[in-house]
Amino acid sequence: PAMAAKGGTVKAASAFNATEDAQTLRKAMKGLGTDEDAIISVLAYRNTAQRQEIRTAYKSTIGRDLVDDLKSELSGNFERVIVGMMMPTVLYDVQELRRAMKGAGTDEGCLIEILASRTPEEIRRINQTYQLQYGRSLEDDIRSDTSFMFQRVLVSLSADLYEAGEKKWGTDEVKFLTVLCSRNRNHLLHVFDEYKRISQKDIEQSIKSETSGSFEDALLAIVKCMRNKSAYFAERLYKSMKGLGTDDDTLIRVMVSRAEIDMMDIRENFKRLYGKSLYSFIKGDTSGDYRKVLLILCGGDD
Ligand SMILES: *[C@@H]1O[C@H](CO)[C@@H](O)[C@H](O)[C@H]1NC(C)=O
Ligand SMILES: *[C@@H]1O[C@H](CO)[C@@H](O)[C@H](O)[C@H]1NC(C)=O
Ligand SMILES: *[C@@H]1O[C@H](CO)[C@@H](O)[C@H](O)[C@H]1NC(C)=O
Repeated sequence: PAMAAKGGTVKAASAFNATEDAQTLRKAMKGLGTDEDAIISVLAYRNTAQRQEIRTAYKSTIGRDLVDDLKSELSGNFERVIVGMMMPTVLYDVQELRRAMKGAGTDEGCLIEILASRTPEEIRRINQTYQLQYGRSLEDDIRSDTSFMFQRVLVSLSADLYEAGEKKWGTDEVKFLTVLCSRNRNHLLHVFDEYKRISQKDIEQSIKSETSGSFEDALLAIVKCMRNKSAYFAERLYKSMKGLGTDDDTLIRVMVSRAEIDMMDIRENFKRLYGKSLYSFIKGDTSGDYRKVLLILCGGDD
């Protein structure tokens, strides 16, 4: 079936004046105390491109860096979501990838999510920007930070092709990865159907029974993104909030990075898959100004 995309919740504001927004933000942060509501009422209702214009206007009319000011005035998850919204899309992905690999431990979920869900063109830009931003290669960082099997998938995803003649892998596994990482959606959906016809098993079932850990997670993410990307993100959001505690890294990243792209579709899938709205989950799992912003990015109840 064709993807019936409904799109995002965050749109460009009409009657937009970057200078006026910059002044409103300065007023909200100047002197003692911070007017969080004023910050939300500007930034949550502008799209990413307009937020960049506001940052530029802030610099040229006030002579200060907006992101620095926001960082010094805000704190906690509220700061993280606002600062995330201020980042150009590719740079935000790049920073998340770096955060996921920096220091001890690796946020493998973040690596998988970004590399499996972005389009080949987005991956190319992420790869370039990563190099520019940090002076090191994304591929090398992935290689030094992850275990072998998992590494093969991620490097294939970021390189968008799989080198022939892999030594440590059996031929079937190499073929399997080559196909999965090829990212030709129509071809892959056809392969999944054929796979089911021949083996009487869903490709997901086979992955689950034959692989484990992060390697399994990565393969499943690729399949899910190919089948239905907004359902994949609905699942990411659900898992970030279900049960005790909240995975705020994931919640913030998905809400910020999908708000302009497919949040409406994610909401629809969320409701269908989990019987409750994304809005009600966010409302129950977060609080304060952090919650206010996330609910605006969510864009309404279902
Ligand atoms: C995406 O997945 C959901 C839930 O599994 C399903 O109901 C919906 O029809 C799918 N959408 C598309 C376009 O395949
Ligand atoms: C934007 O607002 C500023 C300050 O109020 C004003 O000087 C400027 O003319 C406005 N720009 C446009 C394009 O309306
Ligand atoms: C990624 O960037 C590096 C430079 O850092 C370049 O050598 C490499 O070819 C790029 N890979 C892809 C898939 O674009």
